[in-house]
Amino acid sequence: MNMQRRFLALATAATALALACGLATAQNYPAKSVTLVVPFAAGGPTDIVARTLAASMSKTLGQSVVVENKAGAGGTLAPAYVAKAAPDGYTFLIHHNGMSTAPALYRKLAYSPMADFEYVSQVVDVPMTLLARKDLPAKNLQELVSYVKAHAGKMNLANAGLGAVSHLCGMLFQKAIGTELTTVPFQGTAPALNALLGGQVDILCDQTTQTTQHIKAGTVKLYGVTTKQRIRALPDAPTLDEGGLKDFEVIVWHGVYAPKGTPPAVIEKFGNALRTALKDPAFVNRMADLGAEIAPESKQTPEGLRTWLQSEISKWGPVIRTAGVYAD
Ligand code: MLT
Repeated sequence: MNMQRRFLALATAATALALACGLATAQNYPAKSVTLVVPFAAGGPTDIVARTLAASMSKTLGQSVVVENKAGAGGTLAPAYVAKAAPDGYTFLIHHNGMSTAPALYRKLAYSPMADFEYVSQVVDVPMTLLARKDLPAKNLQELVSYVKAHAGKMNLANAGLGAVSHLCGMLFQKAIGTELTTVPFQGTAPALNALLGGQVDILCDQTTQTTQHIKAGTVKLYGVTTKQRIRALPDAPTLDEGGLKDFEVIVWHGVYAPKGTPPAVIEKFGNALRTALKDPAFVNRMADLGAEIAPESKQTPEGLRTWLQSEISKWGPVIRTAGVYAD
């Protein structure tokens, strides 16, 4: 055999072996528990979605999907960690809009949302709610705006760090009313909400997946939801648009990612279990009770998530750069 033929034979054998290994990986997958990394504190909105999803997916996969919280740096530590994890199908990331705002917010980012990941699927869309501590005197949005303006410089606003959706929502609120509040960052909106319940902070914009139960229990004051239409889970809650903040809209979308190079057959198997969860009544009903909507089917695919992420990066980049807000 001449050199060229020998090389071709070797290359063919290597391809066959790689294919066989890929198939074996997909057939036996998962052979152990799978980790789903959450970029914020346990008990918060991202964590609630992740744990409900993990419980449903574990039933289909026959192995546990274990949620791991890697909170910090406004939700950028977790993607940096997953981007460098082994691409073997045992580490995934769940993240929200922060995946699209971080490239503009952070001039130095340890990962690229468009280059360092494989895309699995979107999961749910979640409205946010504008809340204040229970004893804040303002009875509605108009009164809140007047109260904040009258107490300018004395009021604070909690969030989950620069890059969190609570930060984005709070930023849009301050811009809409033309008044700045003092920002108090936490490692997630679970500790932020605890601070609101304890009266240590005044205002918080947070997702219904965490806030619905507190709104219903009356332990926080609600000033409105961030969707254009009222939501089924909180039918009496006015929208912020109705309350006078025209066109105010923030919807939190969540997607699942894997490290770049994770085998396509594994992504498909994990993705299929995820799509099964999105039809599982246990998941669907819990999400509906918490105001979350299952992502449309067109976004329940790797390509659906990838194109959506790209469009969100293109949307938020100029907004953030024009506002001149940087995290670093
Ligand atoms: C956020 O504000 O980005 C999230 O609500 C954070 C969280 O899940 O705690």
